[in-house]
Amino acid sequence: MCGIVGYIGKGQAYPVLINGLNRLEYRGYDSAGVAMIPEKGTLNIYKAAGKVKQLEDSVKNCNIEGHVGIAHTRWATHGAPNKENAHPHCSMSGRLALVHNGIIENYGVLKDKLTEKGYVFSSTTDTEVLVQLIDYIYGAGDMSLVAAVQLALKEVIGAYAIAVIDRDNPDMIVAARKSSPLVIGMAEDGLYLASDATPIVEYTNKVIYLDDEEVACLNMDGTYRIVDLDNADCCHEAQTVAVNIGQLQKGGFPHFMIKEIFDQPECLADCMRGRVLKDMNKIVVSAVIENRDVLLNARRFIIVACGTSWHAGLIGKQLIEDFCRIPVEVEYASEFRYRNPVINEGDVVMAVSQSGETADTLAAIEMAKEKGAFIYGVCNVVGSSIARAADAGSYIHVGPEIGVASTKAFTGQVTVLTMIAMALAKEMGRADDGFMAKVIDELLSLPEKIKEVLAFDEYIKDIARIFTYVHNFIYLGRGYAFPVALEGALKLKEISYIHAEGYPAAEMKHGPIALIDSNMPVVVIATKTHLYDKVVSNVQEIKSRGGRILAVVTKGDTVIKNMADFCIEIPETMECMEPVVASIPLQLLAYHVAANKGLDVDRPRNLAKSVTVE
Ligand code: F6R
Repeated sequence: MCGIVGYIGKGQAYPVLINGLNRLEYRGYDSAGVAMIPEKGTLNIYKAAGKVKQLEDSVKNCNIEGHVGIAHTRWATHGAPNKENAHPHCSMSGRLALVHNGIIENYGVLKDKLTEKGYVFSSTTDTEVLVQLIDYIYGAGDMSLVAAVQLALKEVIGAYAIAVIDRDNPDMIVAARKSSPLVIGMAEDGLYLASDATPIVEYTNKVIYLDDEEVACLNMDGTYRIVDLDNADCCHEAQTVAVNIGQLQKGGFPHFMIKEIFDQPECLADCMRGRVLKDMNKIVVSAVIENRDVLLNARRFIIVACGTSWHAGLIGKQLIEDFCRIPVEVEYASEFRYRNPVINEGDVVMAVSQSGETADTLAAIEMAKEKGAFIYGVCNVVGSSIARAADAGSYIHVGPEIGVASTKAFTGQVTVLTMIAMALAKEMGRADDGFMAKVIDELLSLPEKIKEVLAFDEYIKDIARIFTYVHNFIYLGRGYAFPVALEGALKLKEISYIHAEGYPAAEMKHGPIALIDSNMPVVVIATKTHLYDKVVSNVQEIKSRGGRILAVVTKGDTVIKNMADFCIEIPETMECMEPVVASIPLQLLAYHVAANKGLDVDRPRNLAKSVTVE
């Protein structure tokens, strides 16, 4: 969480910083701030509680000059989300300004030490402790800012991505990372710094991803040096990022979320491009081919993930077990990392993560790696921490997802997991040509099938109007549709603030059915699968207790149609691919309910896109 931007060079820093904060706002948006040095000896810091827009409004009559600056958009961890706690934080001497993403776990001890030395704090953040510590070390001896940062970071326990500027030395930015991402962009007009590449790509596609415990010094003349905490040089090859600016804009839609929902046909086509090869009747997943022996000899797979990605993992489990007969466990990364899980050499731990930065997922794979597991990453953000920590992996390639609620990344994850399962099944001799051809046809038809469902947008909008002001929802599904029910409920609750629960349909009679009355909308995924008749009975049970039923059914269904209050028909597909098609109407429903309520759909309260704190 929290987004960092920095710029040093020939241009003005402020426009780059504000533009960058707008791009990074998905990471946190409870306060924002900028710091610029217009001339040696002057440090201007402006902050505002609330979103980046509030910051922009508040600096209208201020001096925003300067060729060097840093900025931050916050998702509060320590201290309330107010102006005092907003970053950048300034040292008591007024000399240093610092922005930080992460958590300083031993900030209490450090704060006591600094208080004894006479430091006074004006915020309740852990970050202010860090800037005071650097200031203390910097002032105590004849040393460079880089050296002071290195010494300070050696005292720090926790996670950080930081950027520091010095009022009296305006020709550099010092940045460092540990467990929180930081990217440097190199362009003709200067050097850029950000939590991910999205604020940088409109200026340059040449980037370097800092590694843990590295410190970078970015200079006004365009040169830079990257060292470790002991000042040994670190070598990095510049990488080329391929993000298209159009993907970072709303393209005429009112919110990123609805744009991303409508982008899914194209995104899934991108995700499958070069991998699903109809002419050759092949699914090529390079990481599966390259690591064939490890994967084929795995005794089991463990999928670790959080939130929506965990739901994709539940579908991945069914796919891998169905296609490959390899046992798969699915774990919440946050639980897994703190249990003492049995992990043996030869286990494959698969991390599913859109951002590739989720702290719990990252920690889970680091732990599994230490215990000898082979780590396979399924990420969207190229060059992200999880992607780099993994032994192998497959990107989902659905482009940047900006809306906080995951939509296209979810369907992309499920599509990639389907391709991985099928590629593995082929290697294991478990997929004959006929089955392969069927899966390929179904995969390639997903974009068109999603388009068919998107055509119901207006109808779903009407349904959403009816349900906008209810207080509770239940989502039901079985088999492959159970994780879809969980995902539908999560989408609704996170953006509309309506309480929603997902259940396996047959579990209703073990308790939750007591909740059913005429005020309870129940969304049922009741498509034509091998469990269809069972689901019909479950729907009957709800109906006879007065529940209002909104059913997602297979095109042409008549039985459920006669029982449900509202029906959304989706095209038929293989059972294992239904999660992709059936989740689309649920995304639209959640979106329209939240939009009807006038909520900030792309930036729901209390959330952030990239959860880099545990
Ligand atoms: C919900 C959502 C979150 C994320 C979760 C994991 O819409 O987006 O539940 O799925 O925070 O994030 P990643 O996938 O980046 O690891």
